[in-house]
Amino acid sequence: MSDAEQYGDQLFSHAHPAETARLEALAQALDPGTFHRLERLPLREDSRCLEVGSGLGTVGEWLVRRLPAGHVVAADRDPVHLRTRGVPGLEVRRFDVTADEAPEGSFDLIHARWVLSHLPARQNVLERMARWLAPGGWMVVEDLVMFPLETSPEPLYRKVSLAMCDVVERRIGTDCRWARTLPALLSAAGLIDVHGDTRTSRVGRTPMGRFWRLSAEQLGVDLQQDFGITPEELDAFSDRVTAADFTAPGLATVTAIGRRAGRRERPHAAPL
Ligand SMILES: C[S@@+](CC[C@H](N)C(=O)[O-])C[C@H]1O[C@@H](n2cnc3c(N)ncnc32)[C@H](O)[C@@H]1O
Repeated sequence: MSDAEQYGDQLFSHAHPAETARLEALAQALDPGTFHRLERLPLREDSRCLEVGSGLGTVGEWLVRRLPAGHVVAADRDPVHLRTRGVPGLEVRRFDVTADEAPEGSFDLIHARWVLSHLPARQNVLERMARWLAPGGWMVVEDLVMFPLETSPEPLYRKVSLAMCDVVERRIGTDCRWARTLPALLSAAGLIDVHGDTRTSRVGRTPMGRFWRLSAEQLGVDLQQDFGITPEELDAFSDRVTAADFTAPGLATVTAIGRRAGRRERPHAAPL
């Protein structure tokens, strides 16, 4: 195992006093889009689901309600902040997706949101996750991309936001551009019927604005030491990204959906 710092070791540790609020803001920003996409999948009521890097567990909890006869595993490297312990049908599991294994073919749905970009072994993780799907099972991967920050016409917002992406890349190996080609990456992992889309959530007085401000606060020391961002700039940035009149887009989310070949092709191959 490498000694390099990983997500959650120090940066974004679940033990940080503001981490629950940061994850809560993220879930509020992204859950409606995620639920909209998951709602449309033709899942059986007894589906076995794996939620990878489940954070607070809001998606796992929603899946349990949507699939009352199913079984949902909310898996996180550090599941201490999962608020969903004790929800019937939801199993909370301490699980490092870069190191722990699941049995081949054991899930009908695997969902991971804003997790793989943070993992240097991301493509290998995606390929292993694809093997955990049952024939015909669905993979839904959603991940962040930074293009709305790179193209922002607001100098301070662009400067601090891009420096934030650099800090997470240097510290934990996050790639804020990896997900641009996410549908192709699912195809490369052997999945079929792949499709995808991209959405943005705006900052300002919104959950995404709160998330970005809380993220900047955790990165503050690195931003000052390594990027020369002054405390005054950091304060102005925090005010700006949560201001009611600031309507810039935050990090975008690319969603890619595919499924493992299997069951559903048989009628074509062997007509009755
Ligand atoms: C940015 S948060 C996203 C949380 C949640 N998926 C969401 O979108 O609301 C990333 C989550 O991935 C988890 N995580 C990071 N590395 C992981 C790993 N190697 N295995 C499993 N979970 C991991 C973190 O503990 C954290 O809960």
